[in-house]
Amino acid sequence: MLNIALVGCGRIAKRHSELLGLNQIKGARLAAVCDTIQEKAFNIGKNFNVPAYGDMDEMMKKEKVDIVVVLTPSGVHAKNVINLAKYGKDIIVEKPMALTIDNADSMIAACDKNKCRLFIIKQNRFNVPVVKLRKALEAGRFGKLVLGTVRVRWTRHQAYYDQDNWRGTWAMDGGVLSNQASHHLDLLEWMMGDIESVFAKATTALAEIEAEDTAVATVKFKNGALGIIEATTATRPTDLEGSISVLGEQGSVVVGGVAVNKIKTWIFENEEQDDEEVLEKYSVNPPNVYGFGHQAYYEHVVKCIVDGGPNLVDGLEGRKSIELISAIYESIETGKEIALRFLPKKCKLGQA
Ligand SMILES: NC(=O)c1ccc[n+]([C@@H]2O[C@H](COP(=O)([O-])OP(=O)(O)OC[C@H]3O[C@@H](n4cnc5c(N)ncnc54)[C@H](O)[C@@H]3O)[C@@H](O)[C@H]2O)c1
Repeated sequence: MLNIALVGCGRIAKRHSELLGLNQIKGARLAAVCDTIQEKAFNIGKNFNVPAYGDMDEMMKKEKVDIVVVLTPSGVHAKNVINLAKYGKDIIVEKPMALTIDNADSMIAACDKNKCRLFIIKQNRFNVPVVKLRKALEAGRFGKLVLGTVRVRWTRHQAYYDQDNWRGTWAMDGGVLSNQASHHLDLLEWMMGDIESVFAKATTALAEIEAEDTAVATVKFKNGALGIIEATTATRPTDLEGSISVLGEQGSVVVGGVAVNKIKTWIFENEEQDDEEVLEKYSVNPPNVYGFGHQAYYEHVVKCIVDGGPNLVDGLEGRKSIELISAIYESIETGKEIALRFLPKKCKLGQA
């Protein structure tokens, strides 16, 4: 049984603590929690009968922990992960892993040095329809890839941004691209392959925040395919869509719904036996936009640790999204097309 401790007891910690505290993850249990706002840690600790702390070092020194999960605001993930690495335990960190490429590199280096495995949460990769799409891609059913599109049309009212002072700031969060759409950007690159360059525009349409609430980008992939990114939290009056479309010379798939949870289109030139029932069989209805993926994600982590298997989203894989997000922001700020595999010259994200 792996003992899992949580650092940060805010909104997303509810999902993590329920999964681990209510024995939803075979082979893992909630061992301890901490938050600098002690009351938040005590509330979760009381609900699941586990020790609660106001300081992560005290928790790590006193408790028997196998995996520690970082659920703090995005801008402090790097500082927290680097501090926790010295305990030599495996570390899971919520998305986005960091806000700058330098920070992502320092996290990877600290974990390597202390022999901790680093797991980045990209739970949408484990959505039932997304797994099905990935299998079709790996089986070569699309042939040459032509076009990949992701769309995030979600609703975040001002009250969402106002609940914590880190939300929507350049130093700690960024906008819809680095926060909500980071899942979809990861899916786009995972499905379509490495990116050559991006060109983007953004605006802050409705929210009163430093960063953008609405952005569009065009993408050129190394394999010659093109892509479109459309992301907004200014959709009204309600969440409409979180989707990915993959179009190839031999087939087209659209996974939509509000949380990349429903197969909307599944057509291939060379039909296979189960193609007809795919729409029904591989669509799910999650309770919210986080989807069901956190459960499948934890099951993946437990399997990796117990069997020593491959980690689907390790530090280097998580770093790819940070590079893409930084390049998109650099394009927005400079008005230029930006080539990837670059060193950022200008990008406000992650800077105080
Ligand atoms: N995977 C997903 O779908 C998903 C969904 C929501 C949030 N997230 C990510 O989770 C992270 C947290 O988001 P949230 O909405 O829960 O934020 P939140 O502000 O509600 O919670 C963060 C908590 O961390 C605590 N904290 C800050 N510094 C700390 C420290 N040094 N030690 C211990 N606790 C500390 C804060 O007091 C706060 O309670 C963000 O990076 C966000 O992007 C991911």
